[in-house]
Amino acid sequence: MTTLQTTPTTNTANPPTITTITTDTNPPQQPPPQTPKKKLINLLRGWPAPSLLPAAGLQAAATYVLSNPELAVPVLQYAPDPGYQPLREELARWLGGVYAYAGAWNSSGDRELKGGRGGGESGESGGGGSGSDGGNMTADEFAITGGASQALACVLQSFTDPGYTRAVWVVAPCYFLACAIFEDCGFHGRLRAVPEDEVGVDVGVLERRLRECEEEPWENHPSKHPSPDRKLYRHVIYLVATCANPSGKTMPLFRRQQLVHLARKHDALIISDDVYDLLQWPVSPTPPSPTTPSAPPSPLPPIPPLPLLSQIDAALPPSPHEPQGHTPHPRFGHAISNGSFSKLVGPGVRTGWIHASPGFAAGFAATGTNRSGGAASQFAAAIVWRFLSGVDAGVVAERARVEEELVVGPGAIFEVAGDEAAVKFPRNLRLSFSWVDEEDIVEGVARLGRVVRSVLEDGGKGGVGERSGKSDTGAFK
Ligand SMILES: Cc1ncc(COP(=O)(O)O)c(C=O)c1O
Repeated sequence: MTTLQTTPTTNTANPPTITTITTDTNPPQQPPPQTPKKKLINLLRGWPAPSLLPAAGLQAAATYVLSNPELAVPVLQYAPDPGYQPLREELARWLGGVYAYAGAWNSSGDRELKGGRGGGESGESGGGGSGSDGGNMTADEFAITGGASQALACVLQSFTDPGYTRAVWVVAPCYFLACAIFEDCGFHGRLRAVPEDEVGVDVGVLERRLRECEEEPWENHPSKHPSPDRKLYRHVIYLVATCANPSGKTMPLFRRQQLVHLARKHDALIISDDVYDLLQWPVSPTPPSPTTPSAPPSPLPPIPPLPLLSQIDAALPPSPHEPQGHTPHPRFGHAISNGSFSKLVGPGVRTGWIHASPGFAAGFAATGTNRSGGAASQFAAAIVWRFLSGVDAGVVAERARVEEELVVGPGAIFEVAGDEAAVKFPRNLRLSFSWVDEEDIVEGVARLGRVVRSVLEDGGKGGVGERSGKSDTGAFK
């Protein structure tokens, strides 16, 4: 290949000379120096780090489920409409414990550690009362979902109608991928942004805009005819109440109560996207000084969870917007919690739950896709159930004794004689530290670790004997 090059000159008497260059014979030209490509740092992606994914635990749980035909057959079949029942029960037990004291917050936001049903007061204070507050969550308040995104679409299918539901109020800044779910369900152009203040959704702005919206001319033209087991809401309020994505704000109790009251007044359904609710950890307000030797930080007290908006709503009497007379359940309520295992186990498990009134959960279960195909994620739900239930304390105690010459107290021996079923401790062990020397404590805990690991590897099964129960108490004295 040849090219022509001109040598520029300003002297017109000497026109530019033209030289013929044969590039093939020329030494190769150096490419222009390039700055090295920077490694991409993605501070947008909210996925868990690969090292956090619990593959081994899920494998053990799957082995356990699939190797027992009594479990394997139903989990490989169509699911019941509300979802895998053992997982619903496990959620009620687990979250009932997590939120056991949630009903004990008083209306000013101070906490009274009374436990249980939170002091039992009912009425508009929102502090406690009957229903699902305190540690008394029940399986019928849960429906199993395919994760928070799928659940959101199901809720909109069953409980909203673009010809009836006036607007979707979205707290801004918002989890941006939720917008498309609302738009797909007929709310394109009907999303309304509500700002946050210091502590979460600005209820003053929301109240004003709800009022203005109600004053605008509107004719109901619902295109859906929900059966008596569902209800249409006039408004939807969507937010992330705890560790909001992306602002990080957590709404304190008083703001949660204000929001619930507003929703009840305007016949709104609050969909609280609670995928981060269980991911809070304590932080020290003062970072360690760089001059301090790197001593391990002393543990901070755990953050007590605030009540779910669904709990606050459940503690109040039914609102005037509840359908009268012809529904199988006395109430649907005005707030639901949309939970997910995506951030707790791994997004690929595509399993979550909603917590709501039993009426709402039953209505959710009656969504067409649930009726036809059964609840989402039946197989994954069973694996998550097994993964969540952990190992049986009785099995661990028995194997510790036989395999490791180690005695620990299984939770069952601490249940109340004659009323064991009322409060159970299937996954608790007691380890005393007054009797043995320090080195034996260290060695004993190491042995216990080996047993727990080996029980987990066996999929949580016994292997030496039956669960240790009351009859064994002598051995644990
Ligand atoms: C606030 C929020 N909601 C929902 C989701 C998605 O939840 P799921 O995986 O359960 O569908 C995410 C994922 O990042 C999220 O941040």
